[in-house]
Amino acid sequence: MKKIRIAVLCSGGGTNLQAILDAEAEGRIPDGEVVLVVSDSREAYAVERAKKRGVPTAIFAKREMPRAERERAMLEALHESEVDLVVLAGFMTVLSFGFVKAYEGRIVNIHPALLPSFGGVGMYGIHVHEAVLAAGVKVTGATVHYVTEVCDGGPIIAQKAVEVREDDTPETLQQRVMREAEWVIYPAAIQKVCKKLQGE
Ligand code: GRF
Repeated sequence: MKKIRIAVLCSGGGTNLQAILDAEAEGRIPDGEVVLVVSDSREAYAVERAKKRGVPTAIFAKREMPRAERERAMLEALHESEVDLVVLAGFMTVLSFGFVKAYEGRIVNIHPALLPSFGGVGMYGIHVHEAVLAAGVKVTGATVHYVTEVCDGGPIIAQKAVEVREDDTPETLQQRVMREAEWVIYPAAIQKVCKKLQGE
């Protein structure tokens, strides 16, 4: 069976990318391979992580190109690399309807909360964990979902809960959600999606 060709789109530190690359190296994504890492920032450490593993990279910097042009160039790069599955991992650009349509059912994202709670416009990065603490909920977590035109609203693929502690700050909570949930469920969910795409 042909492996599903994966592109990972990042903007920052790339710890989720690292978790995915490690899982692939350890044989935990037997039905997929990361063939391209795309960044919308030249400063993203994710690009270094990809290079260290010998994975090709492409940069379409927000500062250098308007969105429409950037998306056209990104789609071209994805087609050139014959990408089957687009994985968003801390990618800070909201994709247009046209882009989502081009990869319908083949774009996934990870969100650092238990959707549909604490999702939607403005809920990204540390803001999510601030909102969780302000609400006083005792359980949070992470969600892997398909990307549709509704921000954080696509069908859910996987979730994992993480306990909120009395003494948590947004930063300690963010770290624990990554370690205990995101880095665990994302590679597993990607393998599950690859298996499903192979069957189509
Ligand atoms: C993660 O918390 C992810 O859930 C969110 O952005 C963060 C990315 O971190 N969408 P990293 O770049 O993978 O380290």
